[in-house]
Amino acid sequence: MQTLEYSTIRNSTTSIFINPDINYFRKLAGDKKFVVISSENIRKAYPELLQGLNTIIINDVESQKNLSTIETIIEKLLEFEIDRSAYIIGIGGGIVCDITGFVAHIFMRGMRFGLVPTTLLALADAAIGGKNGVNFGCNKNMIGSFDNPDFIVADSDFVQTLSEEQYMSGMGEVIKYALIGNDKILKTLTNDKKKVLARDRSTLQIIIAEAIKTKVNIVKQDPDDKGIRHILNFGHTIGHCIELTEGIPHGIAVVKGINAAIDISLKTGILSEKEAQSIKQLLTVFRYDISYHLGKKQLEALANDKKKENTHIRFVLLEGIGKPIIKDLTIDEIAGLTE
Ligand SMILES: NC(=O)c1ccc[n+]([C@@H]2O[C@H](COP(=O)([O-])OP(=O)(O)OC[C@H]3O[C@@H](n4cnc5c(N)ncnc54)[C@H](O)[C@@H]3O)[C@@H](O)[C@H]2O)c1
Repeated sequence: MQTLEYSTIRNSTTSIFINPDINYFRKLAGDKKFVVISSENIRKAYPELLQGLNTIIINDVESQKNLSTIETIIEKLLEFEIDRSAYIIGIGGGIVCDITGFVAHIFMRGMRFGLVPTTLLALADAAIGGKNGVNFGCNKNMIGSFDNPDFIVADSDFVQTLSEEQYMSGMGEVIKYALIGNDKILKTLTNDKKKVLARDRSTLQIIIAEAIKTKVNIVKQDPDDKGIRHILNFGHTIGHCIELTEGIPHGIAVVKGINAAIDISLKTGILSEKEAQSIKQLLTVFRYDISYHLGKKQLEALANDKKKENTHIRFVLLEGIGKPIIKDLTIDEIAGLTE
C-alpha cells in the first residue's frame, strides 16, 4: 500500500491510501459512528462490502445528482441519528463522491467525511481535490462546495467490475493526464494499449497512482481553483456541454472535448499538425468516437458554462503534448474554430 497526503488552506490533511485492503475504510473510521452513501450497483457487485453498515443507497445517475437527492440523504442521516462526531463515507463513482462531499459540507454545518472511489474516473480524478456538488437544472455542478475528505481509499481493483462504457469513460480522464503532462501515463497508454484495454491489474495500479499524484500535485499548488488548477479542465469546457446535451458519460464527452481543443489549438497555430495527428491517433487507437458537433444547443450550454468570465471562456489548449496553456476565447471564436 502506498500513502500520499495533501493539505489545503482551509482543511486539515487528506490522506490517500492507494491499493489497501478493500475494507480499509472501516479501519480508518475507527470507533466513530459512520454512515455510508453508496449505490445499488455497488451493493450488487460487492454485497459483503456494505453488510451490517448504516447505508444510504442513492440513484447515482446524472439526472438525480441534484438538490432533491441531497434532501433525501439529509432525512436519512436524521433517521440514523447522526451527529457531528460521526463520519460520512461515500463508496461509489464520481456522482456518489461529489454528493457525499457536498452533504458532509452542509449537514450540521459540516461533518468529516471519507471517500472510497469505485470507478476509474473517480479513482483517477473525481475523488481528489475537494470539489463537491450537484447539478442545478441544466447547469452542471452549479451548487457545491470545496471541502476535502479526511481520507480517500483508492483500490484500483474496483475497476474490474465496471461496464466497458464506464471503464472507457474513466480512461478519458486518464488520457487527459497523459496530454497535460504525465509522461509515465502517456508511455503506458502508447506502449501497453492491450494491457490497458484488458484491464491488466498492475498496469491499472500504475496509471491510477500516477493520475492521483498528478492531481494532488496540481491541487496542492492551487487549492481554490484560481490558477494552475484550471489546466485540469482540459477537454472539459466543450466536454461538459456535449455531456449535457447528448447525455453521454462524462469521460466519453471529455474525449470529444479534447478533440475539439486539439482542433482549436491547431487552428490558432499553437500546436503542430504532427502532434495534433498523434493525439488524434491515440484517441482513436482506444476506439473512441471523437466526432463532435457544436450546434445552437451546444453553444447555448457553453454560454451558460460557469467557467465563462464576462464574455470570454477560459479555455485550455495545448502548445504541445504535455504543454497546456490557458487562453480566453469568445463563444463566437470557439464556434468559428470548430467548424
Ligand atoms: N469533483 C470532481 O473533481 C469531478 C471530476 C470529474 C468528474 N466529476 C463528476 O463525476 C461524475 C461522473 O462520475 P463517474 O464517471 O464515476 O460515474 P458515476 O458516478 O455516474 O458512475 C457510473 C456508473 O457506474 C456504477 N459503478 C460505480 N462503481 C462501480 C463498480 N466498481 N462496478 C460496477 N459499477 C460501478 C455506478 O453505480 C453508475 O451506474 C460526474 O457527475 C462528474 O461531474 C467530478
